[in-house]
Amino acid sequence: MNNDILYMQTPDLNKERLIKLKELFPDIFTGEGKLDIEEVKKIVDPQSVTDVEKFEFRWFGKSGAKRLAFTPTKTTLAYDKKRSVNPDDSNGNMIIEGENLEVLKCLLAGYREKIKCIYIDPPYNTGNDFIYSDKWDESKEDYLEHIGVTQDGIKLDTNTEASGRYHSNWLCMMYSRLLVARQLLREDGVIFISIDDNEVHHLRKLCDEVFWQDNFVATICIQANKGGQDYKDIAKTHEYLICYTKYSETELNEIENKEKKLPFNDNIGKFEIRELRNRNPKFGKFNRPNLFFPIYINPNAKNEDGFCLVSLIKNDKYFIESYPYNSEGKESCWRWSKPLIEKNNTEDILTTQVIAKQKNDGNWNIYEKCRKTTSKVKTIWDETNVRTEQGTIELRDLYLKGFFDHPKPVSIIKKCIEIAIQDKDDIILDFFAGSGTTAQAVMELNREDGGNRKFILVQVPELTDEKSEAYKAGYKKISDITIERNKRVIQKIEEETKNNKDLFNSMVTEDKSISNLGFKVYRLAKSNFTRVDFKPDTTKDENENNSLLKNYIQDKEFIHLSMVDEKIVLDEILLKNGFTLNYKIQKLPDFSKNTVYNVVDGYRGCLICIDMNIAEETFKILQEYKDKVFICLEKSLDTSMKWNLTHLFNERLVSF
Ligand SMILES: C[S@@+](CC[C@H](N)C(=O)[O-])C[C@H]1O[C@@H](n2cnc3c(N)ncnc32)[C@H](O)[C@@H]1O
Repeated sequence: MNNDILYMQTPDLNKERLIKLKELFPDIFTGEGKLDIEEVKKIVDPQSVTDVEKFEFRWFGKSGAKRLAFTPTKTTLAYDKKRSVNPDDSNGNMIIEGENLEVLKCLLAGYREKIKCIYIDPPYNTGNDFIYSDKWDESKEDYLEHIGVTQDGIKLDTNTEASGRYHSNWLCMMYSRLLVARQLLREDGVIFISIDDNEVHHLRKLCDEVFWQDNFVATICIQANKGGQDYKDIAKTHEYLICYTKYSETELNEIENKEKKLPFNDNIGKFEIRELRNRNPKFGKFNRPNLFFPIYINPNAKNEDGFCLVSLIKNDKYFIESYPYNSEGKESCWRWSKPLIEKNNTEDILTTQVIAKQKNDGNWNIYEKCRKTTSKVKTIWDETNVRTEQGTIELRDLYLKGFFDHPKPVSIIKKCIEIAIQDKDDIILDFFAGSGTTAQAVMELNREDGGNRKFILVQVPELTDEKSEAYKAGYKKISDITIERNKRVIQKIEEETKNNKDLFNSMVTEDKSISNLGFKVYRLAKSNFTRVDFKPDTTKDENENNSLLKNYIQDKEFIHLSMVDEKIVLDEILLKNGFTLNYKIQKLPDFSKNTVYNVVDGYRGCLICIDMNIAEETFKILQEYKDKVFICLEKSLDTSMKWNLTHLFNERLVSF
């Protein structure tokens, strides 16, 4: 029933006229269906429109979203020991419960440029998705509640098409997060984003802006549903995976191709042949003159595969001349230089790397013998194990059937990691973690190849639906499912290893210890340094406000800090001073009047003391450590101690 009849009113003619106008002139409407008055003015009074036309991507709220991305956070990450699994074996693996923009900002100091690979699977904006909406002007309490700093979890808003800012809301949400995420990526970092037709076109433009268009690698098409959505006129069977690198020089890995057949054999092993001519039209004699030269062929000594020996020198044996011409007769070039060919060429067909073969038309091609069993990843992924139903099966295998809708198949994320990561020690980040598939992919890959990759997952404490299986089983927040799933993955791997079963077709043997199978859970929390609540008095000048702040720190913050668990305060101070949360801490026995720790995290080191007073004797012992960074609380220093420590450590003294 249409709404006019429902409300017993006459038809809304304004609405009707707008619909007609849109049918006739869709170009004067915004992408979100609103009449664009500026476009109308351009028709009726072009002189009145003075805006400079330029190529840009704009939407409602864009500048606010950018500002928000670069506004500091007043939160921190608090360790949740109870929900952690094998924390002593976590080796940097973390599941963080919290709103991802705030969490990413918290991670920024310690993890800037340390993340090698990001995989995310954000809400696709289908019209029914729950989208977190950032609020820019709310009170402190509302803000903390809003970002999920509450034990009870939060409800996200549904972003419906009727909202009028449907695409803008989604773009704002993604823009600020991607801007911060880019800072976390290493120089050679790679990001993969799952998406579908609802926002793929906007996401490409957004990423072109955030990561820059030259760093676009590919849009991969994944056959998610073989049968297709047949309620549409054309049954849609695919979704997308967008890939960008931080810098265009970054090289991605080929991956092992089990189906690849190497048809030929020589003394070195199996091989296939690959044309030595560079088939890329961007290269040729015109820009690579040194790679354009003749190679001479000995046609009289063919082996059973029809391969002949070659030489760079013409003589009685090697007399057929071959230049790198393309099929149209244009001058291209070789892929190898003369010295490289010399190095790889022998006079024995069973050991040489360069050969020639005659084509059916009588001409000759020069080939390299190629022995690798890897190949470049293609832009269409249609294996059975990337289909959506596979993700559901994987959750069922962990006895979590129906606990989470549409988890991604583990294989998709494994493949992303294999493409992006060379060093098996690197960190993978997923800040739309959902059921936590990314952690499973990382742990499984590590078990398969003995790697030591680490994961950081972020999941907002979004409430599960009261009617859902998960809620009934006691998982009130999606983050509870993220944690539970990966706890079960660990248990499963541990059991399988103990039973000496080769669960993941790996090389795991009975005596191989189970290491790095654990994770720490952190929660987004209000900073322990309550000075973030201090509001300057607008009637006072800067100096007066500074001394008010100092008093505030001495009184309120001091009382608060003395009540908080020491580990939580250490975590916050170290994280904000650029340490990763995977730091190693050791109490130094030579200090008897204060507790002084030595901290290292693989990137940096320091001494830290968070006692409320620093004793004279401590200062004397600290002389032996004067090359280190020393971190302490400002409150612990009286004027003379501050002077002494400043002279001892110079800029390596950090007090706050
Ligand atoms: C499409 S799901 C990801 C599914 C995941 N790839 C898997 O395999 O289970 C997106 C997830 O992002 C979470 N999410 C949405 N907005 C968020 C935010 N602002 N911060 C953190 N998580 C958020 C949602 O709660 C949801 O669990």
